[in-house]
Amino acid sequence: MKRNAEPLVVGNWKMNPQNALAAKHLATDIKKAVSRIDGVTVVIAPPALFIPLTQVVQNGSNAFLLGAQNVHHEQLGPHTGELSITMLKSFGVEYVIIGHSERRGEGESDAQIHAKLVAVVKSGLRALLCVGERVRDHSAHYLNEIEQQIRLACNGIPRSKLESLTIAYEPVWAIGTGDNAASSDIHEMRLFIEKILTDLYGRNYAQKVQILYGGSVTGKNAQTLMQEGMIDGFLVGGASLRADEFVDIVKAAKKAA
Ligand code: PGA
Repeated sequence: MKRNAEPLVVGNWKMNPQNALAAKHLATDIKKAVSRIDGVTVVIAPPALFIPLTQVVQNGSNAFLLGAQNVHHEQLGPHTGELSITMLKSFGVEYVIIGHSERRGEGESDAQIHAKLVAVVKSGLRALLCVGERVRDHSAHYLNEIEQQIRLACNGIPRSKLESLTIAYEPVWAIGTGDNAASSDIHEMRLFIEKILTDLYGRNYAQKVQILYGGSVTGKNAQTLMQEGMIDGFLVGGASLRADEFVDIVKAAKKAA
């Protein structure tokens, strides 16, 4: 398997921490620890309200890049409570998580996810598209579910934009449960996702897309999951809220690469 770039580890803070000071401390601790590690791209995706202070902590260094957990697909307009791509860019955001299962669970549709993906890759930001099955049934319907999610999201996205796309395989049952997917299943899913992308775009282009795993990744399981699952990195929720553990995951990704 050809790896396209250095491993990618993304911390999705979700709706944490609960105040600005704690967010500043967490970003600072992560920055200190990861600035000593090269060869891994680290992204922090704080709640939107904490993006400005995280950018201040980042202070132009390349210790980590800034991510957003969501964005609106329209450039402008009457969209109460939403943020535009231009706003995110003005605070140094480079990655946007799209279609996280927690947002799908709040009612975000495949059509909305598609519109966001189109807007993000067009804008020059990088998109981290999340896909994942709710349950792993014995008749393998979950494979159709993943295929549908990818085909609907990528519909009409040209090959020339694939370098801006990363896909995170996040089985819903593994998120925040301590019950991570088995590395053999992660590897199978990597191959399956590559096959879908190859059908859509051809092999050379499909290989430009990094494929991550997310769902109960910890400092302990990261190296095995990455080596045996043959993935390009991780999308980390809970463990990204503890600087020490998040950094252990970054180190494991480096070792496994
Ligand atoms: P988790 O979350 O690491 O807490 O399981 C992963 C995610 O939701 O991206």
